[in-house]
Amino acid sequence: MALTPDQAVLVFTDPTAYADEDRFNEACAVLRRESPIHKYTDPSGQYNPFYAITKHKDVLEIELHNNIFINEPRPVLGPASSDQRNAENGHMLRTLIHVDDPEHRDLRGVTSEWFLPKNLSKLETRLAELAQRYVDKMATLGGECDFVQDIAMHLPLNVILDILGLPESDYPRMLKLTQELFGAADEELRRGSSPEDMIAVIQDFFAYFTQVTEERRANPTDDLASAVANGKINGEDLTLMQTISYYVITATAGHDTTASAIAGGVQALIENPEQLQKLRNDPSLVSTAADEIIRWVTPVKHFMRTATEDYEIGGVTIKKGESVLLSYPSANRDEDVFDRPYEFDITRSPNKHLAFGFGVHYCLGAMLARMEIKALLAELIPRVTSMQLAGEPSLMKTTFVGGLKHLPITYEMV
Ligand code: HEM
Repeated sequence: MALTPDQAVLVFTDPTAYADEDRFNEACAVLRRESPIHKYTDPSGQYNPFYAITKHKDVLEIELHNNIFINEPRPVLGPASSDQRNAENGHMLRTLIHVDDPEHRDLRGVTSEWFLPKNLSKLETRLAELAQRYVDKMATLGGECDFVQDIAMHLPLNVILDILGLPESDYPRMLKLTQELFGAADEELRRGSSPEDMIAVIQDFFAYFTQVTEERRANPTDDLASAVANGKINGEDLTLMQTISYYVITATAGHDTTASAIAGGVQALIENPEQLQKLRNDPSLVSTAADEIIRWVTPVKHFMRTATEDYEIGGVTIKKGESVLLSYPSANRDEDVFDRPYEFDITRSPNKHLAFGFGVHYCLGAMLARMEIKALLAELIPRVTSMQLAGEPSLMKTTFVGGLKHLPITYEMV
């Protein structure tokens, strides 16, 4: 029986819904068709109300009006109890996603040059080396692996450690911390279920990165950690909170996101052998393939904004103080923008997906993420002569960032 919009909107607070793509996509299609700006209210009061925004054009309109729709005080979905704690005490971190202009503009200015193509292009050779390292690792695994846990999780974290200038010996510690921070809804990944467990994870990040800041202030290099540690806003050093928050957003935003895209891309290529063959025949398709993979997986499931004044959109008035949830996976399957939105097509162009968001908060690492995916595909595709699923892929339970948790595959390589 078809879902009603009131039933469909419940998927946004249900981590298990994101782990069941058909169920999630069906709910979003109902909302796009029948009630694209639909109010979520939770009779149990576990979550505060919000409007779910499911059409591409409405997500764009809200992101473009960043003077009206701001990130504070509710940038991401959390239970009502954590909304209240954040309102009373402020967020535990003040990263780019927690702040608005003018603070956001100043803070972003500290690293925006570092993320420009001119600087990032210096990483091409290193990315190719890392891609080779992980495809070599596949060759040692005897034709069988869990592509997420053995390969996809590791390349992006290695890249983050590299750009921050951190030693490879710190790798296991960072892997655990980033997974604990983002995998909080998944029993297999999180440290524990209480707010105290999350506070402990953040304290560990603080302890680690306070030391990094001190080292980079004493001995600056050209890595991203040095740009942050020695960055100035109006001639002043960043506060400790701003500095640490910067490392945390880079380490976390750049890890599970890119890993999910890489793993989901490999699954999509296995399930669509004609697309894999196209890429084999014409490696220059790697750029459009990377963007289609990012649209297909959409690793960031939402961000939120809160209205600073009444605003009418699509015939609905969002009142001052009310929040909206921008559903990127729904926008990226919008039938009004994408031909055959449920088909994986590595030649799709144009591909106006919103997986990196839009406007002033547009993903700072978008170009780096694309470069990583392209580097891996460029190494993997010519060396793997066949790939098959070797079991059921499973998705993370999440409401924020995620994708595949396990992808068992078998393969042959040259
Ligand atoms: C496929 C991989 C990635 C996806 C899908 C992704 C997606 C996103 C999204 C949706 C946003 C919020 C945009 C908005 O509010 O409009 C964002 C912000 C951000 N991303 Fe990414 N991201 C990815 C990889 C990366 C990487 C590799 C890095 C850096 C190493 C990174 C760093 C950031 C930062 C710093 C922000 C905050 C920007 C701001 O608020 O001004 N991301 N990302």
